[in-house]
Amino acid sequence: MANLRYYDDAGLSAAFYDVVSNAYPFRGDVAFYADLVGPAGSSVLELGCGTGRIVIALAERGYGVFGVDLAPAMIQRAALKCERLPPEVGGRIALMQGDMTRIALGRAFDGVIIPFYGYAHLADPTARADALAVVARHLRPGGKAAIHLPAPAMLRQPLGDEELSGPYNAAGDGVRIRVVARSFDEATGRFCQVMDYTLIDPAGTVTRRSREELVYHAVGRDELVAGAETCGLTLSRVLGDFDGSQAGREAIYVFTR
Ligand SMILES: C[S@@+](CC[C@H](N)C(=O)[O-])C[C@H]1O[C@@H](n2cnc3c(N)ncnc32)[C@H](O)[C@@H]1O
Repeated sequence: MANLRYYDDAGLSAAFYDVVSNAYPFRGDVAFYADLVGPAGSSVLELGCGTGRIVIALAERGYGVFGVDLAPAMIQRAALKCERLPPEVGGRIALMQGDMTRIALGRAFDGVIIPFYGYAHLADPTARADALAVVARHLRPGGKAAIHLPAPAMLRQPLGDEELSGPYNAAGDGVRIRVVARSFDEATGRFCQVMDYTLIDPAGTVTRRSREELVYHAVGRDELVAGAETCGLTLSRVLGDFDGSQAGREAIYVFTR
């Protein structure tokens, strides 16, 4: 079985994303972004919005949110979820399939966020510099940006449980997700986790399976801060967790334009 790229249309990682993110929630990230951006009514651009976990939560709090994601399988799921929202909430959301290293929306937001490791998917420094330029281009003067990365130490250690099982849908299907292999290359900073995704029917029969590679790249503080400064973004703080701790398994960078 060939390894699929993560969030590929043909795989199960996009379909199972909400199961995984519910099991490993970053407690407090939505409240953190809301506090950062300003009062309800403020505008937020989320780069790498996935299936809309944060887009929807912020819109429910009264923010106007524009979500962009590269993976069609993710943005389509976000769009389906938004269709089911009350009109006053759904009306505050715009979604677009696009690349965070290239988009030009022609407008500025009160806040720009790249949550839950989206920026760590970018493989090389040029792409990461381009994404910082996109952040700066879409931030109003005085606006705030946040980039949530895994702390480099976290990429050298297991990212959580080796196996996760749970319900998938109301029809009684279940999911099983297993980590098959993990590696971290010190020279390149490339972390790779091979995952087996399995869909199981109510009788216990496996109905679909996919093996996929989740790849993250370690991003050094110096690279990030220097790249941000080049684009007119100033570092205001770095947190280790959303509870405000300085040390932790996360690296949450906050910038001001
Ligand atoms: C771990 S998910 C986070 C989803 C969502 N922000 C959340 O917090 O639940 C990372 C997302 O970044 C997206 N992504 C990766 N590279 C991207 C790029 N170049 N442009 C836009 N989105 C990208 C992936 O498709 C994926 O949906």
